[in-house]
Amino acid sequence: MTIILIHGDTRRVPYRPATTVYVCLCHGVTERQIREVAEAGCHSVSELTMRTGVGANCGSCLDAASEVLAQVHGARTVPLPLPVLSHAA
Ligand code: FES
Repeated sequence: MTIILIHGDTRRVPYRPATTVYVCLCHGVTERQIREVAEAGCHSVSELTMRTGVGANCGSCLDAASEVLAQVHGARTVPLPLPVLSHAA
């Protein structure tokens, strides 16, 4: 039997919910890591795989990883003004 003693007043420690969300369990890659890589310039899942290992084993995380990439880059998409689109047509 192991007894763990906690010293000090633990009531002063604020409760912090777990914020780490794992996208790739095979390689232990979190959503935050994917966001950081995307913000550093990664635009494709294949590049994300090379940089982090996401999807390189079972592949069940690829859809979620792709969604995170799209969220990061979708949020930065600047819509083109309509006059530019009319000249392109
Ligand atoms: S969960 Fe990502 S490769 Fe298996």
